[in-house]
Amino acid sequence: MPELKGKNMLITAGPTYEAIDPVRFIGNHSSGKMGIALAEEAIKLGAKVTLICGPSSVPSTESIKRVDVISAQNMFDAVMLEQAKMDVMILSAAVADYRPKNVAESKIKKKDSGLSIELEPTPDILDSLGKLKTKNQLLVGFALETDNELENAHSKLKKKNCDLIVLNSLQDAGAGFGHETNKVSILDRHNNITTFELKSKAEVAKDILRLITDY
Ligand code: C5P
Repeated sequence: MPELKGKNMLITAGPTYEAIDPVRFIGNHSSGKMGIALAEEAIKLGAKVTLICGPSSVPSTESIKRVDVISAQNMFDAVMLEQAKMDVMILSAAVADYRPKNVAESKIKKKDSGLSIELEPTPDILDSLGKLKTKNQLLVGFALETDNELENAHSKLKKKNCDLIVLNSLQDAGAGFGHETNKVSILDRHNNITTFELKSKAEVAKDILRLITDY
């Protein structure tokens, strides 16, 4: 993809919240900063950006079309409405893998006994996009691995039919959730791996977008 100017780009960002009852949810520590940095840098490069964002207090420029969502199902539905017209899709959201099977209609009362919540899988957005992808669309996934990082990221790339996978390092201080900085390696389908230094999320976003335009 020689340049992003005029290209339709979809970016998912932030966590998702999966309701337990009207006041409680299962969530994670994602701030949305990485995905929002990608959206901001893509706009500067002339892309038309749709940002589908889970609960995040991080603001974004008005020229970004932002769709705020709560749950994995909401994010899936919003992505499906937009995907057909996209040239590039970057899925940086930390989507919950499981949600409570039954959501209580009123606040669950405290009892002396324990409480079990049955969970069911959420829809896998990246996997669904990999199946729908046309040859003109570029699909980029994110991976956060604790063991066998490269091996797992590579098999995820193949399994989910992505063109690129951005591997977040958990090993490095200052990288990942909530931080202003991140350290990533980017894998492609031809077994190339590009490893970057720890840098600001804006700089990481520039690196990712540069790799996309070079791909
Ligand atoms: O398989 P895993 O959840 O580790 O894959 C991470 C990648 O998949 C990220 O790009 C994330 O945004 C995406 N994902 C998704 N829908 C899910 C779970 C993960 O799009 N339900």
